[in-house]
Amino acid sequence: MSSLTNKQILLGVTGGIAAYKSAELIRRLQDQGASVRVIMTPAAQEFITPLTLQALSGNPVHTTLLDPEAEAGMGHIELARWADLLLVAPASADFIARLVQGQGDDLLTTACLATPAPLCLAPAMNQGMWSNLATQDNLKCLAERGIRCFGPAEGSQACGDVGPGRMLEPDQLVELAAAQFESGILAGRSVVITAGPTREAIDPVRYISNHSSGKMGYALAEAARDAGARVTLISGPTRLPEPERCRFVAVDSAEQMYQASLDALSDCDMFIASAAVADYRPANAAEQKIKKTGQDTMVLELVKNPDIVTAVAASDNRPFTVGFAAETQDVTSYARDKLVRKKLDVVIANDVSRGDIGFNSDDNEVTIVWPENEESLSPRSKTQLARDLIVRLAQAVNSD
Ligand code: C5P
Repeated sequence: MSSLTNKQILLGVTGGIAAYKSAELIRRLQDQGASVRVIMTPAAQEFITPLTLQALSGNPVHTTLLDPEAEAGMGHIELARWADLLLVAPASADFIARLVQGQGDDLLTTACLATPAPLCLAPAMNQGMWSNLATQDNLKCLAERGIRCFGPAEGSQACGDVGPGRMLEPDQLVELAAAQFESGILAGRSVVITAGPTREAIDPVRYISNHSSGKMGYALAEAARDAGARVTLISGPTRLPEPERCRFVAVDSAEQMYQASLDALSDCDMFIASAAVADYRPANAAEQKIKKTGQDTMVLELVKNPDIVTAVAASDNRPFTVGFAAETQDVTSYARDKLVRKKLDVVIANDVSRGDIGFNSDDNEVTIVWPENEESLSPRSKTQLARDLIVRLAQAVNSD
């Protein structure tokens, strides 16, 4: 069952070319079991007709604040109360600015002011308007008020520009809307996650590292947070934005990640080691840049890094400990060996020899190796996979 089943979503549509995607969004929300009512601003009606959204939502579309007929049925206060979630998609720069000011001069702004439901925005605008400091300041202000911002995405825009400001796709918006209702299965729990690669310095300008993107660990951090946990994300260098509402600890080397992990254990119910930690580091990182010599070969002496997850599993006051196994062959048997050798509670195994999933991709397919049995999860986005993993791990932690 989707977390949107039987949920009442009030969809606000403002003026922007992305309004055509709202039609699809209504369908996708309904596919997940939600009922949808729509408020359109006058500008939105220039892009898509109320009739289209009425036909799709199966409900009259609300367009005016002072409509005697609507007031008798679903007036702005009733709509605001009806909603379990108010999602404005697309949210134009002008609408965002009016929301910041607390204006209540049309039906949508009034509903936003009146609703006790969570309010989420899917901004959509030209990249210049998005980057403008006025818009950015407005969004900062709304974030401080607890209003959530979904996206926007980057890419080519209807006006011909390329950059940030595209509305997220309907499927992504549905996923984010669903996450707002995710149960608090980890409420009151503290989860520590390592993610990304580590960098092992050779000299001040060179290092040894690997191709880990950090995507899986970051998705796990967001899923654990959405399940109600306090999350500490200890991350090696990645290109990903820091997840919101998580404690973020940036590290470079395996030794730094090791120290940060041990420090975080004082408040930790579950430790998830998704980082691709370098197994070895240069024995002596040079203080100055190493110069080329006349030699054709160069020998770099390496020493072993501490095994972070093994140390965590061996600590006093040991948390529920989850490891990852990225393998290119005999994936499950190597993972089981890791489970036993590192004394872990569970290992998430994946095949990194496949280009379409794993390391740098947005999708992944894993086998969960428990002490007693195994469970394979078919390929899905890392975001969805993270949610599915967190549900299973939370059940295990809660019955531990
Ligand atoms: O031994 P191997 O690197 O294959 O084990 C992978 C698991 O161990 C992952 O969960 C990884 O995060 C963790 N690990 C660690 N510290 C290391 C090496 C691996 O925590 N030095």
